[in-house]
Amino acid sequence: MLIKRNPNGIDLPFPSEITPRAVFESRRSFIRQVALGSIAAAAAPEMLVREAFAQNGQKLPAKPNPAFIVMDKPTSVKDATTYNNFYEFGTEKTDPARYAGTLQPRPWTVAIEGEVKKPMTLDLDALLKLAPLEERIYRLRCVEGWSMVIPWIGYSLAELIRKVEPTGNAKFVEFVSLADKKQMPGLRSPVLEWPYVEGLRIDEANHPLTLLTLGMYGEVLPNQNGAPVRIVVPWKYGFKSAKSIVKIRFVKEQPRTAWNISAPQEYGFYSNVNPEVDHPRWSQATERRIGEDSFFTRKRKTMMFNGYSDVASLYGGMDLKKFF
Ligand code: MTE
Repeated sequence: MLIKRNPNGIDLPFPSEITPRAVFESRRSFIRQVALGSIAAAAAPEMLVREAFAQNGQKLPAKPNPAFIVMDKPTSVKDATTYNNFYEFGTEKTDPARYAGTLQPRPWTVAIEGEVKKPMTLDLDALLKLAPLEERIYRLRCVEGWSMVIPWIGYSLAELIRKVEPTGNAKFVEFVSLADKKQMPGLRSPVLEWPYVEGLRIDEANHPLTLLTLGMYGEVLPNQNGAPVRIVVPWKYGFKSAKSIVKIRFVKEQPRTAWNISAPQEYGFYSNVNPEVDHPRWSQATERRIGEDSFFTRKRKTMMFNGYSDVASLYGGMDLKKFF
């Protein structure tokens, strides 16, 4: 996002496809696995590869929710855990996997405050028990022009919102990431204003697709993917999906958000995936699916709202070129 080497956003070499493809051999067998609820089990050999460089690896059982599963082939665990954006650990794609070992995901608390009738501070165990954990396979499209498909574990953020009872003044929700210099070496660099803050309109936060995320690929979130708790908003560019959240604040006014503060003309508050609205420095019409990067592979066409067309009703009457 900040590394401005190439107008297509291809600023680093493609990650090589190191993971054996046999795990997700064919679309058909994959769909069968989904039906049998065994995605996590199918990914098990890849877990072994991953444990070499990720700290975590603790299993997190969850029931696949067929209503929230895209049929694209999931990205390999290796790619999803080594090609990351997490600027608190550096700006190179490989930095989070290399340096996020210093992040301590336990003990952890999330303070929920602001315009709510029942403010509360929840620890990780409380968050894990708040609602049944589901496995959902979402496309994630980064504003830089690449995408992945990841089996996340969590539940709709709406479940948590219901518990804290927002007041009528709660128009927006702000997500604040941890900012601890002792754990996060990237904070020494003023590349963004810290802490990393993101935000959603209250109806976006309440949309069932918005996932309070505690795991991926059958395990707790690896540090580099935002342990121990993040959000995933699949119809928006990836930077809206804040990692390692410590505070969720319900507010009256649209929050200032990290990338919008850094470059307001490039990163709007809404940041819905939209192939018709170019980034000022590159087109958003196509994307490179991580793992599909042979020399002959054609880029994929980016879909409006990343293919999650149901959310269109949230934006009735809005000019999405103006509110980018
Ligand atoms: N959250 C925090 N706190 N810091 C970050 O730098 N990067 C964002 C988002 N959440 C980021 C963050 C961006 S730009 C993307 S594309 C996604 O995380 C990447 O998530 P992933 O590494 O799990 O694929």
